[in-house]
Formats: sequence, structure tokens, C-alpha cells
Amino acid sequence: MTDSYAVFGNPIAHSKSPIIHAEFAKQTGEDIAYDRQLVEEGKFIEAARDFFTAGGCGLNITVPFKLDAFSFADQLTHRAQYAGAVNTLKKMPDGKILGDNTDGAGLLCDITKNLGWIIRGKRVLVLGAGGAVRGVMAPLLAENPQRIVIANRTLGKAEELVKLFTAGKSAQDSKILRASSLQIHARPFDIVINGTSASLGGAMPDLSPAILASDACCYDMMYGKELTPFLQWAKNHGAKVADGLGMLVEQAAESFYLWRNVRPETKPVMQLLRE
Ligand code: ATR
Repeated sequence: MTDSYAVFGNPIAHSKSPIIHAEFAKQTGEDIAYDRQLVEEGKFIEAARDFFTAGGCGLNITVPFKLDAFSFADQLTHRAQYAGAVNTLKKMPDGKILGDNTDGAGLLCDITKNLGWIIRGKRVLVLGAGGAVRGVMAPLLAENPQRIVIANRTLGKAEELVKLFTAGKSAQDSKILRASSLQIHARPFDIVINGTSASLGGAMPDLSPAILASDACCYDMMYGKELTPFLQWAKNHGAKVADGLGMLVEQAAESFYLWRNVRPETKPVMQLLRE
């Protein structure tokens, strides 16, 4: 019998997840159907319950329901607990719903494996301090960078995240992570990751090019047909750039693996989406 999956969000029409998972299914021979569903705000819990009651096996969750999915899950993976949000739900054999977050793994896989950028021992600047950034902090820290600065327009939110991710750590480990406003007074960075939603409105964080090391690599967690304003700015200042399409495909592959226990090839799917 065909197993049923879907992505829930609002808006959802633009979602590439159905194309990605259809390609993964074709490639691996897994018998799945994957739909998209527009869910009314405030109706997530009802919609998710209906989906699983009707025999659904798993969901991807996108904006604005990742916190609702976190509350909906009966059990959470460690990475979902760190992220404070859930982007993948899976019905377990005992009927319980497992909540996971594959965004951080997706970002790290794209940066370190696909792009070959090294984080270990490097100076990393993360822009933004919302849900998107919280979701990727644990796997970023696990790569053992020399320093991560979280810089945000609202300094207090960056400080909150630093507090969250240094709680219970040794003084030595806590030194790795710092908070800043966007007026960054620090040595230049090797890797800059934009996790703000500024690109959505065609804007970019107000940054000085002095933050870029001479061979800096800049990543935008957003993507679009054109370079995002942040990546255009970075390219103009001589940095290597990459958008978040790879992260999108890699987080999907990680969800697919959680559901089906099979790892799909991501490169052909990325090529297809770039066409
Ligand atoms: P998400 O879940 O996508 O992270 P969010 O929690 O609303 O969304 O966070 C959006 C992030 O983008 C915040 O860090 C926000 O900065 P503030 O905390 O100061 O609001 C940041 N952001 C949005 N628009 C921005 C802009 N034009 N310039 C700089 N930062 C911006």
C-alpha cells in the first residue's frame, strides 16, 4: 500500500518539498505519495491529528507551524529539543508521533559536504537570532569552530540564544559563543551565515564589509531565482557565496531517511531544481 506523507504550511503553494520527495521516491523505489496542504492559522493541531488518524505516516512542517508541531509531538529527538521547533513528524509503530528537526543537519551537510567549506577551527558569524538560527546552532557548535558570533538587529535576542547554548557548558566551551548587534566589533570572519528573514523583503542586514576575511565564504539560508541581497553584497566584496537550496534538499533527505530508513542522492535533485 502506498504510504502517505505531506508538507503543512501557510503559504504552501511555493513549496518545493513535493517535487523533492517525488524525486527521492523515484530514485529509491519507495512507494510513497507526498502532498502539500495549506493549513489555516490556528488549525494546525486539528489538521495534523486528522492526517495521522486517516493513516498518514509523516509530515514536514514549515512556516508558521514549527512551534505547533513541537507541541503536537508525543516524543522529541535531541536535535528537536535543542532547536525548540519541529520540521518533521513521524508516526512510530506504537502510534506515538515523533518530532524531529532536520534543518541543522541539512545546513551542515550542505556547507561541509556539498560545498566543502571547513568550519572546524574557523571564525563563524551567524546573522539573526530567530527560529531559523536557533535550529542550526547545535550542529554548528558540534563542528568545533574557533568562535561563533551571533549578531542580530535586536541584541537582546542574540544574547538569549547565547545563554541557551552555553548553559551547562564549561567556561572554555562558553568562550566560543558570543552575541553582538549588527555593528560588529571583531576580527573578520571566515564563514558568514545569514539566518535573518531580511531577504524575504528584498533587504539585507546593515553590515560593514570589514566583517569579511579575505577568503570568506557566505551562505544565505534563503534562496531564490536571483542571488539574495546578502549574497549579492558578499559577492561584490569578493566572498564565495551559496544560497539555501542545498540546505532545503538536504533537510528533506534527512526527513526521508527518518521516515524510510533509506538515504536518497541529493545532487541530482539539486540540479533538477536549479534548471
Ligand atoms: P525565523 O523563524 O525565520 O528565524 P523570526 O524568528 O521572525 O523568523 O526571526 C527573523 C530574524 O531576522 C530576526 O533575527 C530578525 O531580527 P530582529 O530580532 O531584530 O527582529 C531578523 N531580521 C528580519 N528582517 C531584518 C532586517 N531587515 N535586517 C536585519 N535583520 C532582520
